[in-house]
Amino acid sequence: MSLSLKPRHSVRAKISAVGAYVPPRLLTNADLEKMVATNDQWITERTGIRERHIVEPGTPTSDLATEAAKICLANRGIGAEEVDAIIVATVTPDMMFPATACLVQAKLGATKAWGFDLSAACSGYLYALQMGAKLVESGAHKKVLVIGADVMSSIIDYTDRSTCILFGDGAGATLIEPCEEGEVGLIDYLHEVDGSGASALNMPGGGSLHPATHATIDAKQHFVHQDGGSVYKVAVRKMAELAEGVLKRNEITGSDIDCFIPHQANRRIIEATADRLGMPLERVVINIDRYGNTTAATIPLAMDTAIKEGRLKKGSLVLLASFGGGYTIGSTLLRWEF
Ligand code: UT7
Repeated sequence: MSLSLKPRHSVRAKISAVGAYVPPRLLTNADLEKMVATNDQWITERTGIRERHIVEPGTPTSDLATEAAKICLANRGIGAEEVDAIIVATVTPDMMFPATACLVQAKLGATKAWGFDLSAACSGYLYALQMGAKLVESGAHKKVLVIGADVMSSIIDYTDRSTCILFGDGAGATLIEPCEEGEVGLIDYLHEVDGSGASALNMPGGGSLHPATHATIDAKQHFVHQDGGSVYKVAVRKMAELAEGVLKRNEITGSDIDCFIPHQANRRIIEATADRLGMPLERVVINIDRYGNTTAATIPLAMDTAIKEGRLKKGSLVLLASFGGGYTIGSTLLRWEF
């Protein structure tokens, strides 16, 4: 295996801890059968989802993000006052402003941290990971919390069977720190956006284009709208393309990867992507059956699953890949360092 690790920065960044949190309340396929014209067999066969966790109404994204961050910091054995910056990737911020990162900062007691939110839908965590890494690689920051968190149940129309079966709520937090001597950490990434796909997956109401009015509410513009078939086709093609791209640029193939952690939107998309990358399914982390699509949280939640299943070890070569509304697409190659 040839892995060209040309350091582009004198400081390299690594993921040093992970924490995940999902609300306790379960929404199963059987529950959904009572709400819309669907059935467990269709949902399981078409998506791989069996159940998802959703919040009690009124629970905001910052609560989930804060819980995940607390677990992450406890796993690392440090206090919130040591955190330099907080980036929250989300499409379901508590409010239009202030940023959810500010609310997490206050709830955590991260007294010296600054921060901001990042909006890139299901690729939000991967984009935030690179931003956090750049803050560390600049030498200016030593501990950056990168969080993917979404309360999708706050923007889902539970009378629309084409979307309500897909999404769940959750949060995953990771701590980004400088590598120690001899460590590699984050190696490379490829990101792409294609804004021509904006109409295929969006929530049109509540922004400056369609500010909230009685009419926007009547037209259900404050819910997720998705042309599932179009999104599916682009997802299968582009997620594999960017994942292949980052492997090729580093002169490795899918068979060199110890653990592939893709965005969890549909089990069939994951399997098709793994197949194109030549990756056996036993090296792919899949937890969509338990959580559904938690948007920005899927990848850090899947990291947590992989850790608990003993599938990530110090030195593991890991590939992350995402696809989401925008369109936004991302892939990241890294060495696991704990
Ligand atoms: O993370 C963000 C990115 N999002 C994605 O990656 C999602 C990508 N898209 C998908 O995962 C899939 O397109 C879906 C899971 C959303 C839909 O699966 P599909 O295989 O593309 O189904 P379809 O939309 O083509 O619908 C097939 C049939 C239709 O019935 P007819 O027209 O064949 O009679 C639908 O009305 O299935 C019907 N259908 C359902 N039936 C039972 C759609 N939703 C349901 C449902 N239960 N929940």
